Amino acid sequence: LFVNASDTSPCPIPDTLFGIFFEEINHAGAGGLWAELVSNRGFEAGGQNIPSNIYPWSVIGDESMLIVATDRSSCFDRNKIALQMNVLCNNGGPNACPAEGVGIYNPGFWGMNIVEGKMYKLVLYVRSLGPIDVLVSLTDSQGVQKLATANIMTSGVKWTKVEILLKAKGSNYNSRLQLTTRRKGVVWFDQVSLTPLDTYKGHGFRNDLFQMIKDLKPGFLRFPGGCFVEGDWLMNAFRWKETVGPWEERPGHFGDVWKYWTDDGFGHYEFLQLAEDLGTVPIWVFNNGISHNDEVNTSVILPFVQEILDGLEFARGHPKSRWGSLRAAMGHPAPFNLKYVAIGNEDCEKFNYRGNYLKFYDAIRQAYPDIKMISNCDASRAPLDHPADLYDYHIYSDAKTMFEKSNYFDKAPRNGPKAFVSEYAVTTADDAGTGTLLAAIAEAGFAIGLEKNSDLVNMASYAPLYVHVNDRRWNPDAIVFNASHAYGTPSYWMQHFFKDSNGATLLSTSLQTDLTDRLVASAIMWQNPVNMNTYLRIKVQQLPQNRV
Ligand code: AHR
Repeated sequence: LFVNASDTSPCPIPDTLFGIFFEEINHAGAGGLWAELVSNRGFEAGGQNIPSNIYPWSVIGDESMLIVATDRSSCFDRNKIALQMNVLCNNGGPNACPAEGVGIYNPGFWGMNIVEGKMYKLVLYVRSLGPIDVLVSLTDSQGVQKLATANIMTSGVKWTKVEILLKAKGSNYNSRLQLTTRRKGVVWFDQVSLTPLDTYKGHGFRNDLFQMIKDLKPGFLRFPGGCFVEGDWLMNAFRWKETVGPWEERPGHFGDVWKYWTDDGFGHYEFLQLAEDLGTVPIWVFNNGISHNDEVNTSVILPFVQEILDGLEFARGHPKSRWGSLRAAMGHPAPFNLKYVAIGNEDCEKFNYRGNYLKFYDAIRQAYPDIKMISNCDASRAPLDHPADLYDYHIYSDAKTMFEKSNYFDKAPRNGPKAFVSEYAVTTADDAGTGTLLAAIAEAGFAIGLEKNSDLVNMASYAPLYVHVNDRRWNPDAIVFNASHAYGTPSYWMQHFFKDSNGATLLSTSLQTDLTDRLVASAIMWQNPVNMNTYLRIKVQQLPQNRV
């Protein structure tokens, strides 16, 4: 490999080249990066009609002791469902409740990780017919070992907010939250939340999972999907307005593509905050009136366009503007640095895509001339028939194909929009499984090609980012976690290897080898911001034959 380090025309690599794509898939956010420990905290997982779905809440005690049901008596207008517990047994006498009491418990997302000495904040809303004492406890998975307890005395039919700090006196990564009583009567609960106090800057991000993406030094954060943005049906798509404001008032929604409920605690504001905390550039992918199975016709798309303009005002508007004031009230008076949006996800072939796209494009261009817009249509071989700043390119393939694509962008036109490879991964089961070295090596070959074409390819991200071991909707993924632990797959460490490329200088290289179709190489010069030393990094990648 010949590296010309004294190149007279070295190429700067964009600061944004290697970033991350966060999608609410595999419980990446709900039960993952978002540190809320209660799953289905508003008892709304079945929607706003009764009976709703309280899963994974479960009942402690049988029907001779208590009856648990949902009703629509909540004090929150956008999520009316509350849980009613009619306790039939009593504290002593012939119809005595069991010593451990009766009630409900929530196991979180396949177990709550409770750590000795750590503080947890419990918030819940409660009301009752007559005074009832309720025991709040964090226990092991069987409800036997008590890790933390507190008593609540309910005070009447009016909803009351209760906030308690619990200090864990033991550790258990498979814990649950219990609400129990031994007093006959009727009690209602709503919006029950338990969060560790110890999250990144108190912003609600689970520290270990946050640190793993911070370590990648991402040049951007694309969010919140993916198919999650589209929905199988529009009624189940992510709608930003339903995800902002006080968490208790968010209705939550069922993500029908990846088939799970989210309380939307991790909403539009929190995504923008995450990008800021990572020190990176947010890229908001919004629904353009198209889902997997239904579409809004272009002739009636304007309310959807207005919704997105409002979302931009929320992110960037003056703190006294209509939506900017909500952002300010949520704790961020200064605008977020939102400069990129993607108009839809993988919708280029849909009937209304171009029509809808142009309505969004024109309105955003007029209101926010500096915002860069990303089209779903691929311009790597033929020019687009519509204006765009970047075009989206996705590739999921076997290892050999991925590796061979390292020179794909060599032949792409340079006179149109820039390329955004927003999803790439080796996915075939044989090559990739749930994460293999072969897949990572092939992806590294591809990423070397992106680096060498970074005059055109300005952004690239592997997908998906996270997977909870108990909800593998998609394999493979970069970061695997459960309630208490996390590790990076080889594809995570492949990305880690490219973390110094953003903003580095690409040097010209030439490779002399008989293995031209099986070797790729690049060289970069980069400066370490800590010690200010300049480094040369050479990457030579060969496609191995077998899965490792
Ligand atoms: O990354 C998983 C999925 O793959 C994304 O949701 C979608 O954009 C693509 O089809």
